[in-house]
Amino acid sequence: MIVSLPELMRVYPPLAACWEVAQLARAVFLYRNKVAGSSEVVKFYSLKTKTDPETNAAHEFDCINRVRYIHGSDPSLRPVRAVTRQQSLLVLEHVEGRTLEEVIALPYSRGGVLEACLQHVADFLAALHSWERPSRPKCPFEESHAYARNLVIKLQRSSTISTSGPIRPEELLSAFEHWSDDPSMRAFRPALIHGDPTTTNFLHPRSGGMVALDWEYLTTGDPAADVGRLMAEVSHSLKLHHPDLDPSPLLESLLAAYHRTSDSETDRLGFHRRACFHQAIGSLRIARNEWLSPEARSAAVRAALAVLGGGQ
Ligand SMILES: Nc1ncnc2c1ncn2[C@@H]1O[C@H](COP(=O)(O)OP(=O)(O)OP(=O)(O)O)[C@@H](O)[C@H]1O
Ligand SMILES: [Mg+2]
Repeated sequence: MIVSLPELMRVYPPLAACWEVAQLARAVFLYRNKVAGSSEVVKFYSLKTKTDPETNAAHEFDCINRVRYIHGSDPSLRPVRAVTRQQSLLVLEHVEGRTLEEVIALPYSRGGVLEACLQHVADFLAALHSWERPSRPKCPFEESHAYARNLVIKLQRSSTISTSGPIRPEELLSAFEHWSDDPSMRAFRPALIHGDPTTTNFLHPRSGGMVALDWEYLTTGDPAADVGRLMAEVSHSLKLHHPDLDPSPLLESLLAAYHRTSDSETDRLGFHRRACFHQAIGSLRIARNEWLSPEARSAAVRAALAVLGGGQ
């Protein structure tokens, strides 16, 4: 059985003289050796999942190794490095810097650090999406559509939306249904996608560049799913931290930066429509978060409907 360093430090205090430990997330800890000055990050899969944490840790380790040579136009835009995997522990290099979420939370100035960070993320995703194009195309649209319907049902169950409320479940369902007839929804070139491009999964080191984290959902799919989800997450964080700021120009510059680098899509309109579809799904995912205020959850549902309506 693996014992964590904080537990060892409790039973054997001399260890505390050498090591500092900080919790970065529920299952992620930073270990700094004060004597050697070195630091590493450990992800405890046993704190993330009860079902087979060892296989899950091995899966993320393999995913990171699969993408380790990918970088954007600038080689400092890259995936995090995995040091080793021991049973259910994944050991990663420690990257000092701010997550995209933390950058969004800073005071905003047009043309400043946030735009630069978004460009880095867009550039990196475009490089990732051009990496692999399996000859046998997969069509995950039906899956995404079913997932969207399921989200609407869950939001109804949690009373975030109701048949007597300002946004009715049927309204959302029929908005999603409309998109199903659009041929561009199924017309894409499958590529390697990150699968979980949230604002906490991109780190911006003080020295420049960008490091992408959290590779457990790496898969082959529609690149527009990554871009749309990222747009939903960025838009939501912007609303939380800067309620008076219109997120549209930033989202447009994110898309423009992505297309400047990407060579994988000639049909930009089709790509944009699929990104909108996935942005709407991303907003509904956010609306499901129980730790958000009812107002923030309703705002996320309204954002989803606005994107579905606006993209028609
Ligand atoms: N290598 C690293 N260097 C510095 N910070 C890191 C590193 N890896 C993870 N973190 C920090 O820990 C957080 C969570 O990491 P990660 O997303 O990999 O774990 P997770 O368990 O999947 O978390 P979540 O469920 O929140 O996505 C990151 O948002 C980041 O703040
Ligand atoms: Mg994460």
